Amino acid sequence: MPSTGNTERAYERFETARGVLPPRAWARSDAPRIDLNGRWRFRLSPDPSAPIDFLDGLPAAWSDIDIPSHWQLRGHGAPIYTNQAYPFPLDPPRVPDDNPTGDYVRTFDVPELWREGRVFLRFEGVDSFATVWVNGIELGSTSGSRLANEFDITESVRPGERNVVAVRVLQWSSNSYLEDQDMWWLSGIFRDVSVELRRAGSIGDHRIQADFDAQTGTGFLRVDTDVPATVVVEELGIDAPVGQLIAIDQVEPWSAEQPRLYRGRIVGSGEIIEIVVGFRRVEVDDGLIKVNGRRVQFRGVNRHDFHPEQGRAVDAETMLSDVLLMKRHNINAVRTSHYPPHPHFLELCDKYGLWVIDECDFETHGFGAEGDDPGAGNPVDDVRWQSALVSRMRRMVARDRNHPSIVMWSLGNECGPGVNVEAMSSAARELDSTRLIHYERDFTSAQVDVYSRMYLTYEEVEQIGRGDEPPLDDPALTAHRNAQPFILAEYAHAMGNGPGGLSEYQELFDRYPRLQGGFVWEWIDHGLRTTDTSGRTFWAYGGDFGEELHDGNFVADGLLFPDRTPSPGLLELKKVLEPVRLDLVTGGIRVTNAQDIVGTSLFSAEWVLEEEGIARARGSFPLPDISARGESVVPLPDFPATDAETWFTVRIVLAASTSWASAGHELSASQWQIRPPQSVAAVRHAPVAAPLVAAPLVGPGEFDARGRLQRFAGIDLVSPCLDVWRAPIDNDFGYYGEPLEPFWRAEGLHRMQQRVDSIRWTDADLQVITRTGAAGSRLALLSTWRWSTDGADLRLSLTVEQVGDWTVPLPRLGIRMGLPAFVHTVEWFGRGPGEAYSDSARAQLVGRYASEVDDLQTPYLMPQENGNRLDARWVVFGIGGNRGLRVSSLEPFSFTTRRWTSEDLDAAKHPNDLVAGDRVWLNLDVAQYGLGSASCGPGVHPRYLRELFPARLDLRFAVGDAQ
Ligand code: GAL
Repeated sequence: MPSTGNTERAYERFETARGVLPPRAWARSDAPRIDLNGRWRFRLSPDPSAPIDFLDGLPAAWSDIDIPSHWQLRGHGAPIYTNQAYPFPLDPPRVPDDNPTGDYVRTFDVPELWREGRVFLRFEGVDSFATVWVNGIELGSTSGSRLANEFDITESVRPGERNVVAVRVLQWSSNSYLEDQDMWWLSGIFRDVSVELRRAGSIGDHRIQADFDAQTGTGFLRVDTDVPATVVVEELGIDAPVGQLIAIDQVEPWSAEQPRLYRGRIVGSGEIIEIVVGFRRVEVDDGLIKVNGRRVQFRGVNRHDFHPEQGRAVDAETMLSDVLLMKRHNINAVRTSHYPPHPHFLELCDKYGLWVIDECDFETHGFGAEGDDPGAGNPVDDVRWQSALVSRMRRMVARDRNHPSIVMWSLGNECGPGVNVEAMSSAARELDSTRLIHYERDFTSAQVDVYSRMYLTYEEVEQIGRGDEPPLDDPALTAHRNAQPFILAEYAHAMGNGPGGLSEYQELFDRYPRLQGGFVWEWIDHGLRTTDTSGRTFWAYGGDFGEELHDGNFVADGLLFPDRTPSPGLLELKKVLEPVRLDLVTGGIRVTNAQDIVGTSLFSAEWVLEEEGIARARGSFPLPDISARGESVVPLPDFPATDAETWFTVRIVLAASTSWASAGHELSASQWQIRPPQSVAAVRHAPVAAPLVAAPLVGPGEFDARGRLQRFAGIDLVSPCLDVWRAPIDNDFGYYGEPLEPFWRAEGLHRMQQRVDSIRWTDADLQVITRTGAAGSRLALLSTWRWSTDGADLRLSLTVEQVGDWTVPLPRLGIRMGLPAFVHTVEWFGRGPGEAYSDSARAQLVGRYASEVDDLQTPYLMPQENGNRLDARWVVFGIGGNRGLRVSSLEPFSFTTRRWTSEDLDAAKHPNDLVAGDRVWLNLDVAQYGLGSASCGPGVHPRYLRELFPARLDLRFAVGDAQ
């Protein structure tokens, strides 16, 4: 009689693993293997009382499901998104009776020859608890959703016959208490399943240690196995029994910048394992994290396994695209937040070169740990969970320790402090002392090798850089922590439009050796591909599946959109993390190699000189080979003379192809203004039309009796009015930072009314004074609009003053007007081609650009202000034929152009809610508030908080041939 596992509520034990084999390293081996990915039969029941009536064969009435997958993304049940809160009552280790239960069955044929040896069944990841049967015999149950669980099925499998494997997976189990990461709750067999023959002489487990002595250039290789075997690395002339320390003179070490791997194999009498060897030494020396004797700086991101249709069931192609995208955006490190990734991802990090913090599958954020209080019932501080937690740690280290890319083991994320932290840390050290231990929630740093925090302000980071952060109660601990290097495990929350202020963090990392970089939160938005009732695709976030408890779009806080399109934030990060920095100095361009290990021989420079955005000269020059962190000055090329505003742009590109990008790939671009715009002769005013005619005219501008511009050169307009509102961005909401949006709304900035106070016609201009204020408020903005003309053009000179005691900064300050819907094309000279804001503008270069109105939008998952083009000198809107409406200014201005208003943008929940109206709305701004990172972290850096008043905007409107 098979035991059910479920009726005993085995899934509510502190440790749920039963019958699971000891962990071993993930391996590519020639052991005969049957891939059990693919089609299985599947049934979802509301709870575990569903009968266990599926152990003998394929139930005909069930549906099919492909593995690996999450059942919620295959039409069964629904995803749930919560950040910290558990989606069930907190009563560890118990879980609700209503516990969706997925039963899986498939058959597989086992060759007759498999009688000789043992047979293992391996699951790389099952969320959250599985009971496993082969041919009706129960083998045990799993624990740790993102860890391997392996069973010895020798006694139940029938070689030469068709076999039945059956798995019951529960959505909730005691494991769920340990796996409260900020992501979708998604269940099922979501990583690979396989059956392997372990012949006599198979290599049970193997361990590769490849140390490097930077002083002598000697590599030390030691491979251990639990059976006699030989290690062969032909390139190094190694063919020796395992278990010996082999010294090799002058090996090339592995680093993220130069991921030198030596390929080899371990040959046992019953199995050959393919191995890669990367020689490197990771240590804290003199208070600094060093690899191969060099201080390194982490330019990292936090990455979840995520795909918009497959959830955490990511395929090899997706993993490769992540690694290539990281490398191409100057990222050199990844924290596997907050669980061990699919093992193949680590192979790719080894191959292409990324420093890795491998994090254990452990988070208990929903218990509300604060400071040194873990919160009632938190498993981190309850010894009854200790063996489960230590086992998770051991299983991660055992699975992954052969990867050269891993430089730190992380105990988990946001569990708080507690007795189990030390136990986990010791377990990791016992299995592998060649990596550093990381755990951000050990604020004392007693159990770890690196001081790590998240979302600190610039001031706090700087204090740590100087080594004078506030002391702990215990002087010994203070001294211990002060001697440690520092990293930001998370910073620069990339939610929605943002993050701003990246370069200010980078400046600190570059200034203080103790600050060894950080990991941006996070790599990708976890939006799930969904279709609305009209068949339009959108990216779903929390609440879109009817969850009773959810955290909305907080799941969309990545540098990539869900389909892996880079966001403007990623482009900004790429520039900030540039491997080579350029500065214009007397005598030429100073080239600084910002890398830690390699020289600049791989790069070359291409330059262009542009006069008002039009290339006048271009060329290229090779870079001298500057060693890591060194610098050199190269002479400036010869420039032709120019008259108009002129910019010199230098792009650093790959001189030759690498494994991750082709020759010519651009790593960064820097730009300098060589000639400022010419000041224009003073405007000669033509007289304006008499005030008493029906449609008073100022040159080509037609006004109404209240001084409002109605038409320009025959084009119907919605007349310009003062505008201070932007559809709040996620950072304005300040979910875990300082919010601005409630203050803005309290002041009524989203419902300002404009009143005309006076109109005065003079010979030279039309002067209109307006007062803009919100119902219920005394605060106002007094604007003076001076309209004039030189006969052909219309000029606006607008000045704005504040009335009353304003305490909030404005979202924006400028004018808004409506253009006809037939406007499609936009051309401008200013920063582009992408959007930019004051504190996120480094990736956008001054030049001449063209776009469709529709392409000027950035489709953030939750609609919000976007698409701002910064530092425009002029912009031309196509009005048909070759004609354009041109707006220009001597002072750079910003513009946004869209087919809906800021109010529509504010009200929309998803981009597909936005429909084009009968106008193109144009904002022309003196300035817009920065982005900051206050959705989780600090707001806009003070450097960007500009005093706007008295404000002035001078614009010139003209119609003519498009540029
Ligand atoms: C951190 C946490 C992450 C994520 C982030 C906010 O506190 O470690 O998992 O929740 O905040 O997006």
